Amino acid sequence: MTSLKTPPAAVICGLGAALPPRAVPNAELCAELDTNDEWIRTRTGIRERRIADAGVSTEDLAVAAGAAALESSGTREVQALVLATTTPDHLMPATAPAVAARLGLTDTAAFDVAAVCTGFVYALATAAGLIATRTARTVLVVGADRMSRLPSPDDRTTRPLFADGAGAVVLRSGDATEPGALGPMVLGSDGTHRDLLLAPHGGHMQMQGPELFRHAVDRMCSVTRQAVQLAGWRIEDIDRIVPHQANARITASVGRCLMIGADRRVQNIGHVGNTGAASIPLALAQASADGTVLPGHRICLTAFGAGLTWGATTVIWPDLKSAAHPHHDTAMERP
Ligand code: COA
Repeated sequence: MTSLKTPPAAVICGLGAALPPRAVPNAELCAELDTNDEWIRTRTGIRERRIADAGVSTEDLAVAAGAAALESSGTREVQALVLATTTPDHLMPATAPAVAARLGLTDTAAFDVAAVCTGFVYALATAAGLIATRTARTVLVVGADRMSRLPSPDDRTTRPLFADGAGAVVLRSGDATEPGALGPMVLGSDGTHRDLLLAPHGGHMQMQGPELFRHAVDRMCSVTRQAVQLAGWRIEDIDRIVPHQANARITASVGRCLMIGADRRVQNIGHVGNTGAASIPLALAQASADGTVLPGHRICLTAFGAGLTWGATTVIWPDLKSAAHPHHDTAMERP
């Protein structure tokens, strides 16, 4: 039991995800861009991605993933909702209160966290802080993005990469020794490199791919090492690393530098592309549904994104009830 003097730990007790049903294979992009399936597959690992229809908002994706996570947790007593997103539906207000309202949570703290592809790890750290300070006992943490809105329609470098989706976890107040308890968090940023990936107000995304690639590998390797060390583990103790899905070659390079083989790396980019803040919880939901991630596994979540930003944490995977049954009131698919 947690004494009044020890801050409570944040324990994962629910998991859900949502994808737009429309899969766009590389061949469909080749009809509109000067590219080809082989280039996209070999340079990025992406075969297809999910793209939401024009009328679907970040809020819609977040609601579907949040509902799935709440259902898997078996609770609706949530005192805070933290939404990580790069693509809020409005400049103001934040998207989180609308998501909370649609989930029936109208007396709940709700706000957005903006750290691009690292957003979900930043949101986990924020939620863990709310729990540690006893501001909330249970927090819904959602990562949702409509990243496909950001590239210019004729940009062959960025358009094949970015896609839409959402994932969510429920965190409850608990004990640091329980399965599902989040380990120490490591977060960082370096705004001197903000121009490497940037979307100006009202404009399209601009990316300096090769340089970003190098930073991504360096930062993901070092932040993974730091989080694992703070957890009291060694790299070889990790059963599964769940990295942000930016490029299969980035994940492979991180694996090489940490000596974590492909069998210990969770990867779903081939079918979903880069879904921004949704990437890590979506990969977790798919890996836990297909048995790649199992209860008792030592997991490291590692993210990198524009900003630049990066972050990592560890968790011993808990035994969760799956929320795999699609609701008929949502147009989204649950992985
Ligand atoms: N189809 C065909 N050719 C393409 C192409 C496409 N979709 N996109 C770029 N090319 C071309 C380039 O024009 C270039 O041609 P050139 O040699 O004639 O100038 C060539 O392919 C190599 O381009 P380069 O940018 O060096 O390729 P790359 O191997 O670095 O791969 C990325 C490009 C974008 C896939 C890669 O740099 C990357 O993934 N970077 C990190 C992106 C990232 O992490 N973003 C999000 C962070 S969260």
